[in-house]
Amino acid sequence: MERRKIIAGNWKMNMTPSEAVALIEKLKPLVATDSADVVFCVPAIDIIPAVEAVKGTNIGIGAENMYFEEKGAFTGEISPAMLTDAGVKYVIIGHSERREYFAETDETVNKKVLKAFEHGLTPIICCGESLTQREQGITIDWIRQQIKIAFLNVTAGQAKDAVIAYEPIWAIGTGKVATTEQAQEVCAAIRACIAEIYDDATAAAIRIQYGGSVSAASAPELFAQADIDGGLVGGASLKEDFGAIVNWQ
Ligand code: 13P
Repeated sequence: MERRKIIAGNWKMNMTPSEAVALIEKLKPLVATDSADVVFCVPAIDIIPAVEAVKGTNIGIGAENMYFEEKGAFTGEISPAMLTDAGVKYVIIGHSERREYFAETDETVNKKVLKAFEHGLTPIICCGESLTQREQGITIDWIRQQIKIAFLNVTAGQAKDAVIAYEPIWAIGTGKVATTEQAQEVCAAIRACIAEIYDDATAAAIRIQYGGSVSAASAPELFAQADIDGGLVGGASLKEDFGAIVNWQ
């Protein structure tokens, strides 16, 4: 089965609302393509102007996080209904920076994934090992555990629409991109894990991105791998390079 590529930018904590609109205006013509899904995951305060700015284009807007409750006394949090009402289609869940700085765990990731599906949002579920874990040789075990907990109680029908982002922590923002072989090996292991949890059809449908220092130079080889269905791009998504990454072929 031919999976459609999905290339998403993760803006992280960058761009004020007015800067966001200016960047979208600049990138719009560069990321125009029919051959992949293009997503800009932007800070919460940029969502409303970003949705407005991408109207009539091929760009979908994603959030970088959300809370797993419906509403109520959770000062500072953003609910799934707030995202969908604002026109958001995707939400990054469990990025390693949220796990490291904001105490997110595999269990909160699972709650958020379930909530995202309940509201018709496509979760971009992040997993990845640290350098110590890679050096210890426990990368695949670690990732399998992250995936199994993230997908607890998620149905096969939901899972086939999920996006998984494999982001080795040591490759994020370091300029040290994983080798094509390393990235493909882990993405294949993730797909095998999904086949184990569900079935071959779900594994064949789910899209798996690589993230970690993706650049215009590294994207073509990475995206050509059998189990890599696109990228989650940090730094390079804020620059014109993102146009070249989206049009990698
Ligand atoms: P960089 O592309 O800046 O390494 O960031 C990757 C990332 O964390 C995307 O979510």
